[in-house]
Amino acid sequence: MCGIVGYIGKKQAAPLLKEGLKKLEYRGYDSAGIAVLGDRGLAVEKRAGRVDALSANVYGNCGIGHTRWATHGAPTAENAHPHVCGAIALVHNGIVENAHELRRECMERGEKFFSETDSEVIAHLIARAYRGDLLAAVKEGCARLVGSYALAVLAKDRREIVCARMKSPLIVGRGEDGCYAASDLAALPACSAACVLSDGDFALLNGENFTVFDAGLQPKEGEKVVFSAKEEDGALGGYRHYMRKEMAEIPLALENSCLEIGNIGDFSGFYEVLCHAEYIQIVACGTAYHAALCFEYAAEKLCRIPVEVTTAGEYRYRDPIVPKNTLCLAVSQSGETADTLAAALCAREKGAKVAAVVNVAHSSLARMADFVLPTRAGAERAVAATKSFHAQLAALYSVLRALAAARGTAAPYFSLAKEAEEALALSEKVQGWAARFAAARSVYFIGRGADYCAALEGSLKLKEISYLPSEGYAAGELKHGTLALVDGRTPVVAIVTSEALAEKTMNAVSEVRARGAGVYLITTLASLSGREGIADAVLLPPCEELYSPALTAIPLQMLAYYTALACGNDPDKPRNLAKSVTVE
Ligand code: G6P
Repeated sequence: MCGIVGYIGKKQAAPLLKEGLKKLEYRGYDSAGIAVLGDRGLAVEKRAGRVDALSANVYGNCGIGHTRWATHGAPTAENAHPHVCGAIALVHNGIVENAHELRRECMERGEKFFSETDSEVIAHLIARAYRGDLLAAVKEGCARLVGSYALAVLAKDRREIVCARMKSPLIVGRGEDGCYAASDLAALPACSAACVLSDGDFALLNGENFTVFDAGLQPKEGEKVVFSAKEEDGALGGYRHYMRKEMAEIPLALENSCLEIGNIGDFSGFYEVLCHAEYIQIVACGTAYHAALCFEYAAEKLCRIPVEVTTAGEYRYRDPIVPKNTLCLAVSQSGETADTLAAALCAREKGAKVAAVVNVAHSSLARMADFVLPTRAGAERAVAATKSFHAQLAALYSVLRALAAARGTAAPYFSLAKEAEEALALSEKVQGWAARFAAARSVYFIGRGADYCAALEGSLKLKEISYLPSEGYAAGELKHGTLALVDGRTPVVAIVTSEALAEKTMNAVSEVRARGAGVYLITTLASLSGREGIADAVLLPPCEELYSPALTAIPLQMLAYYTALACGNDPDKPRNLAKSVTVE
């Protein structure tokens, strides 16, 4: 993962690099570093920990920066980027898969390494190739690499930055005071021109302009990015954490992400494919995977179409069968998750049409897909996904409704913005549960059908930010083994929204209660809220059962948030995680 930035122009580089890196911290925050070229040569500052730890007291108006999510080597200052070798300094996002053999080759030549990273070897290769032409040297160095990279490279004796991209995102832009490079548009200031590099591209930045080159170093017209200056300013707006602020934005995310899918309008091409689809495969990771499971449950039930959801990291390695007329939905907030991208490519190679359900319009996934179904959650900064999950549900339920229409089935109307607003207010009561959860040995979330999908997401949220061992379980499955783990120190959260399945889930509730567990209920069924023996309950507004995860996820997210606070954790930046996972 990691985030990289570069600046060359009239201004001091260090403060701009630091500002850009802060906006990329969602990509990792294990260490940070900058290298700046000034009158007195190259100055490097590297620190373990977050970007804020950088003093940025280095002067010059050309520089590169990095915020790291550790893959090779611990999160120390030595392993922080930039890496310097001879005349070269570079920052890297990606993984060099042949780093081990390249490193051995360099060491046999007597070259010294100062870090355990795979990235340092790239600096060695480029330094070896450098004879005054930095662009040519970067090309020569990259030719030896297997794996993924986004690079920004400086040479001590040249006032320019060279960038390269292979399977890791990189954008270059020209602003008023100079040129910029960054892993994500969010880290660029308003630019009059900006391009997304494609795999194999290089770019050369000087103080006035940038040029994009193809793999053979022929100048090319880069793929332009439309610059929307009105991207959110990132302010917390009175909230203590982005996660809580982003939860408050759930109603809007739901409303904005409902899509009009039919035989006219923006999605008519997709609708055509949807009408002929006989089979739907969905690939996604983490929270997006859970949104996909919610869709699977609803689509099979309502539209009688086979839907198969696979965690993207597993998909391609199991050599999947892709029958004729398969539609593949690739669901991803960032659109940069390496596993999801690889799985979508694999599905397409095997003949599926790919539709990206994606929150970032210029992302790699959006660019590779046959169709884009945008989720409009707005920028999400907290690592734990909240409003983007709801936006994914809204877009997927729009697909469900279109599919039902195409198959002559009536789908219930979907619009839960008002109910979500109510759910947010009602869910505040889980703050009172947090101390008991924070003291728990482990936590179980149980449900059936759509409630089971919500249970999985509730458990993931809790794990991500409170670090408590937790599992989401199908209520009926608990007794087949896991019940052995339940005792008086095991809170169990039961999610119940289906009249038909309610008593079945309540049987599981009785079984865990009999083992001493405290049971916390999240339900839309007023009939259950006064049930004896329940420690506490959140009664949500009534909701169509198929769509219920859009409501039940809210108290679950809130529970994770308050438990994380009770544990003394920063819910926005949980340990070991990053928001955009661009490595396999
Ligand atoms: C990471 C994040 C999760 C996220 C998953 C998929 O693991 O920590 O919160 O759900 O990636 O991300 P995507 O951007 O593809 O939705």
